Amino acid sequence: MSIHISAQKGDIARTVLMPGDPLRARFIAENFLQQVKLVSQTRNAFYFTGTYKGKEITIGASGMGCPSIGIYSYELFTEYEVDNIIRIGTCGAYTNKLKLFDLINVDYAASESTFARYAWGIKDQCIRHQGKAFKTIKKAAKELSIPLKNCNIHSSDIFYRKNSDIPKVAAANKCLAVEMEAFALFANAKHLGKTAATLLTVSDIIPTHEKISADEREKALKPMMELALEAAMKM
Ligand code: HPA
Repeated sequence: MSIHISAQKGDIARTVLMPGDPLRARFIAENFLQQVKLVSQTRNAFYFTGTYKGKEITIGASGMGCPSIGIYSYELFTEYEVDNIIRIGTCGAYTNKLKLFDLINVDYAASESTFARYAWGIKDQCIRHQGKAFKTIKKAAKELSIPLKNCNIHSSDIFYRKNSDIPKVAAANKCLAVEMEAFALFANAKHLGKTAATLLTVSDIIPTHEKISADEREKALKPMMELALEAAMKM
């Protein structure tokens, strides 16, 4: 047990897939894993452990934003001997060069967040994916013929803002899309010498206001879930 996760020590696998939403964690676990067991439900942040093609994998929620994923990923890495975390989420595209449903393997996450600086003294505005997960995902995508782009993204602390211009930190670091968690995940992994990657599906195009509809979402996220699971199997 840790403060925010009530699982027993041995109940969490070495590789964890992390959607933001607990109900998405449940959906993936119930539809893609065998021998599924609910191992933590503190604050309704569900964590499920099961097997995928025989390999033990845990799927659990990060919540929204750097503070939340900062807590869950830290406890997983330090209290449960987790080696690899793959965040699976959605993002908004800053440019119509990206299309709805595009799948992104995040290279660098740039942020105005003070998380990395105040937690670990990491002063960079831009932190890279950590360890081999990025490459494993890239290779798995090739094998599965799933189209996958890689680019830098903005991990924003802000969802609603008065000014809709692309924020400075995103422009300066050539970020093509925005989400809210990868930066803190990468910072924790970097500090602890662990592995972390982030896979994102483009769910909205910010300049044109196009969006994946609520009923399209489940189907839209399927390639990302399959890719994450196949990559997790190889870790
Ligand atoms: N902003 C931040 N996070 C997001 C967005 C967005 O527009 N879309 C999906 N996740």
